[in-house]
Amino acid sequence: HVFALIMAGGAGRNLWPVSRKKIPKQFLDLFDEGTMIAQTVKRIRRSVRDENILVITGENGRKLLLDTPCGILPENIIVEPSSRNTAPCIALGTAHIKKRDPDAITVVLPSDHLVLDEDAFISIVDAGIEMARDKNALVTIGINADRPETVYGYVQADEELPLPAALSGGYDFRLFKVKAFAEKPDYTTAVHFLESRDFFWNSGVFIWHIDAITLAFERSMPDLHKDLLNIYHHLGTSEEKKVIEDVYSWIHPVSIDVGVMEKAEEVLMLTGEFGWTDLGSWDEVMKVAGSRALLGEVNSGKSLVQIDCENIYVRKPAGKIVCTIGVSDVIIIDTEDALLVCNKGLSHRVEEVADVLRREG
Ligand code: GDD
Ligand code: MG
Repeated sequence: HVFALIMAGGAGRNLWPVSRKKIPKQFLDLFDEGTMIAQTVKRIRRSVRDENILVITGENGRKLLLDTPCGILPENIIVEPSSRNTAPCIALGTAHIKKRDPDAITVVLPSDHLVLDEDAFISIVDAGIEMARDKNALVTIGINADRPETVYGYVQADEELPLPAALSGGYDFRLFKVKAFAEKPDYTTAVHFLESRDFFWNSGVFIWHIDAITLAFERSMPDLHKDLLNIYHHLGTSEEKKVIEDVYSWIHPVSIDVGVMEKAEEVLMLTGEFGWTDLGSWDEVMKVAGSRALLGEVNSGKSLVQIDCENIYVRKPAGKIVCTIGVSDVIIIDTEDALLVCNKGLSHRVEEVADVLRREG
């Protein structure tokens, strides 16, 4: 069977002050169309049966999920004792899925993305599922890169392989062998990547057979592989909780990209266009809002007054009046207890604010 493992334990610091520790990015409803996690669940339900869709998150995430039902079955919420980044999260998820079906194919999905063309996305995922029937392949989905982003991982394409027409669903998807993964390069490296034209952004979506990811863990992260098996053998027993807590008390945070993908062999990449955005910063949110003619609309009504303003993005609490005069290229994010005013193009630095605040307690 095909399973989905939706990861929802990260924090998303760049959307401060709206996204906080208590309400991570994936639980935000930025465009009045449901939270990102709710949209992720809705999207993957077109490809995976409800009972096989699992979300893995922390206790806080579990509460948020139960508060605003989004189609996820309560028994399919896996709770981690703490965040240890995506490698341990995927190991724990894999143990659960293996228990349900040792012959499963898993679609691993981040929950902090927007996908504008769902039909294309589902088609590429379905093609990936077919590729993953080969029990050796780790399949990743790459995005055409159009700027030297440093907040994404990159995947370098090797030889292009023929993609059977029946699998492309009428879209212009391409299939490559993967030469290398490079997680979050510095700016100069990202510029080189872009110029070389054989690098794609890593979407963070992975598709694989249980055997393929288990073997990859065994080769690249042997300790975590042992932990995975240990958890697997205790699932459903009275010791389950204690074993998981023990494991989480000693494992180090490592992302799947660095821990496994950078070292793995036999990685395949499907690439295509499906209107993917990570919404990793207010600039990206502003861009998407603008392209959907939503600028200002989220704040609707008279409470938002803009006189001689150009290119500005404002968010504010309902009922509050925010006025701007003669301002351009600015992002204004107002909340009950914190206000951000940031030049357009600089919102990737919001992370620095969070650092300063934390240091000052
Ligand atoms: N359950 C759980 N536990 N989920 C986690 C944890 C954890 O410890 N850490 C992260 N996640 C979830 C996040 O909520 C998100 O949905 C997803 O896993 C990816 O984690 P991020 O922390 O958002 O990673 P990133 O955005 O910096 O980088 C990843 O995604 C990029 C694309 O958005 C990498 O895969 C990059 O290579 C990629 O380009
Ligand atoms: Mg992310």
